[in-house]
Amino acid sequence: MENTILVKDLQQGYGKTIVLKDISLALKQGEILALIGPSGSGKSTLIKSVMGMKLPQKGTVKVLGTTMPNRKILSKIGFMAQNDALYGQLTGKENLEFFAELQGVPKKEMAKSITYSANVVNLLPHLNKYVKDYSGGMKRRLSLAIALVTNPTLLILDEPTVGIDPELRQQIWKELNKLSKAGVTILLTTHVMEDAEQADQLMMIRKGESIAQGSPKQLLKQFDVANIEDVFIKAGRVQDARLDNN
Ligand SMILES: Nc1ncnc2c1ncn2[C@@H]1O[C@H](COP(=O)(O)OP(=O)(O)OP(=O)(O)O)[C@@H](O)[C@H]1O
Ligand SMILES: [Mg+2]
Repeated sequence: MENTILVKDLQQGYGKTIVLKDISLALKQGEILALIGPSGSGKSTLIKSVMGMKLPQKGTVKVLGTTMPNRKILSKIGFMAQNDALYGQLTGKENLEFFAELQGVPKKEMAKSITYSANVVNLLPHLNKYVKDYSGGMKRRLSLAIALVTNPTLLILDEPTVGIDPELRQQIWKELNKLSKAGVTILLTTHVMEDAEQADQLMMIRKGESIAQGSPKQLLKQFDVANIEDVFIKAGRVQDARLDNN
């Protein structure tokens, strides 16, 4: 089966600075991949590369078999950026309507799509408030709802669980798992180990490199540790030893 996301030997950076080296990943339909790594390690840069918002310095990025950016493919992606891009002077509902319309959600499905996506993030009671009066967490939740409102085949979520309490986090994961079972492919970044443990695949990025890649179970076995945090620490030490030797 064709990969939904295929990244091969990606080198990426800004100007002359190299942020990511030799990054490769393959994500099949319905799989959930979590990117984890320290702040500044290049997670968002990888997300932007997959979206086609940054052309690779080297290597290739394909989504649904197509080199990005591609308008047709973009319309199939539910995207949540790390920084909320919302209209403060509009209500939550108006924001959802705006982005749904932009992405081509048919008028007759609008109400149902908005109710569904707002419900996933518990925003139904707040839809008629102005977004400028939302808390930080509410804005994150609205951004997630916007990513869901178009019924996408691929979800790309940059830190979807920041500012979200444990109960709602579980509810969101339940929905992500449901979507993945229905065939939706999901790429997300997180700092939270509980999120990472729930993904089908993990990719740990550190100092511009992928230092560990595989299912949570595989990685625990490979590094012979009891939790994902320790995989990261051990893989980091291996990387440091290798970099010191060079
Ligand atoms: N527009 C830009 N111009 C120049 N450098 C950038 C730009 N965006 C990011 N960088 C640099 O690229 C590196 C990786 O940044 P990136 O945002 O991808 O990290 P991240 O892993 O997403 O971090 P965080 O967990 O804090 O979101 C950092 O050193 C950052 O300073
Ligand atoms: Mg980031």
